[in-house]
Amino acid sequence: MFNSQRHEEILKVLEEKGSITVEELSKSLKVSPSTIRRDLEEMEGEGLLKRTHGGATRERKERVRGMKIFLDTANVEEIKKAKDFGIIDGVTTNPSSIAREGKSLEALIKEIINIIDGPICVEPVASETEKIVSEAEGLVRLHKNIVIKIPITPEGLKAVRSLSKKGIKTGVTLAFSSSQALLAAKAGATYCFPFMGRLDDIGQEGIDVVRDIVQIYRNYGFGTEVIVASIRNPLQVEKAALSGAGGVTIPFNVLEKLVKHPLTDEGIEKFLSDWKKVPK
Ligand code: G3P
Repeated sequence: MFNSQRHEEILKVLEEKGSITVEELSKSLKVSPSTIRRDLEEMEGEGLLKRTHGGATRERKERVRGMKIFLDTANVEEIKKAKDFGIIDGVTTNPSSIAREGKSLEALIKEIINIIDGPICVEPVASETEKIVSEAEGLVRLHKNIVIKIPITPEGLKAVRSLSKKGIKTGVTLAFSSSQALLAAKAGATYCFPFMGRLDDIGQEGIDVVRDIVQIYRNYGFGTEVIVASIRNPLQVEKAALSGAGGVTIPFNVLEKLVKHPLTDEGIEKFLSDWKKVPK
């Protein structure tokens, strides 16, 4: 029996019974307990089940509760202002946004961590698996909220797999197709960041790719969350929300624009001028 067939069987049993032991699976599937343990580990990495002592339980995929809104910047002033909105779940940075701030990566990350209590996504700059992993291990030592953003390449995917096995949270970045996103989920990424704006820039409908990724993840119950990135305007945020993506990561200027509407401003002005006519 192939690995994938065994995984299917394990899922079926878990669906029926809710939980199962390694011993039971080893007997019914006629493979060694160590093979079953490896299966369970892989399937847990894909978010399909939860390992328990001596077995596994079904990971019930619940609908994402509430859309995540991350701030896509490394600018501390913007992060402080955005925090005051009271709706920011985390921060995403990248080598370009870090470079704009003129501070060391470590100093910057420490400042950001003190402002936002949520995932802080940081991108190693190494391109070979081992170097990415060792850079990532250094970064996660800074704080438990650090998530490692890794561009989708063969070396990057191997790093995602290796880090997710170690329980380190990862986000696959620079994703432009649903096949890249599929591989990200298989590798056990916590987040996948499709770059909607850059696809729109080259005349492709970025939202179509986002919708496909959301559907693919649903089809297979992948635990990887889709956080739509490279967002330049409120319309893209609305489209991302309608697609059922887990969230968006937005620059500060888009956050400000999301709040604004000219009719709201006009309405407030009218209320206030009418209020002046009320006898005091
Ligand atoms: O964090 C990466 C991504 O959001 C970059 O966006 O505007 O440079 O395409 P952009």
